[in-house]
Amino acid sequence: MRPNIAIDGPAGAGKSTVAKKLSQELGYLYIDTGAMYRAVAYYALKEGIDLKSEKALADLVRNLDISLAYDQENQLKVYCNGTDITDKLRTQIVSQNVSIVARVPAVRLRLVENQRKMAAKGGVVMDGRDIGSFVLPDAQLKLFITASLEQRTIRRMKELQAQGYRIDFEELKQEIKQRDTIDALRKMAPLKKAQDAITVDTTNLTVDETVQHILNIYKERFGCQ
Ligand code: DC
Repeated sequence: MRPNIAIDGPAGAGKSTVAKKLSQELGYLYIDTGAMYRAVAYYALKEGIDLKSEKALADLVRNLDISLAYDQENQLKVYCNGTDITDKLRTQIVSQNVSIVARVPAVRLRLVENQRKMAAKGGVVMDGRDIGSFVLPDAQLKLFITASLEQRTIRRMKELQAQGYRIDFEELKQEIKQRDTIDALRKMAPLKKAQDAITVDTTNLTVDETVQHILNIYKERFGCQ
């Protein structure tokens, strides 16, 4: 069985971009668990559900069937009850509310069950906050990808500008900081570096440099690529 690779880290550290490229290099399946939490947040907002009500969120997630699939251009698509909602997930409103939704144990348990099933056969690169520490504690390679708050804000700012948003840098910085705080302080499966994870600080690295660095670690550990 091919190894599983767990990638965790704070918001905006470049996890998804790196994980996606890495999976392409290795011919592995990329699983974006953040997109799954975003899908729940999107639906909760769409349905006008009170995000403070754990019961309402638990009821909602019970009836949501969230799945990931690749289209013909090899782009990852997120489906919810059969509808492609990929384009709805990286908006500001979803980013601002997703951590509140992701705190709820019933939401996490439902999604984690799916995530573990997807990784059961090995050969996945899965990114999130709790992958190495909770979802896949037996993953053969665990990475904790970080970058300075300043650099993470710059990256997120560029992503939002490309979507046409005009956002104040300091406000965005505080928003990212607050999201990390909620993610790190929640009771169930918080954002945490697994004990056996290798830290990769990407503050001064390009995406390609980061991927190459991880490929070297992979090669060293598993002997081939
Ligand atoms: O990686 P991202 O920014 O798309 O993640 C969105 C949010 O989802 C993040 O703020 C916390 C939550 N999340 C989580 O709690 N556990 C994961 N495994 C992945 C994401």
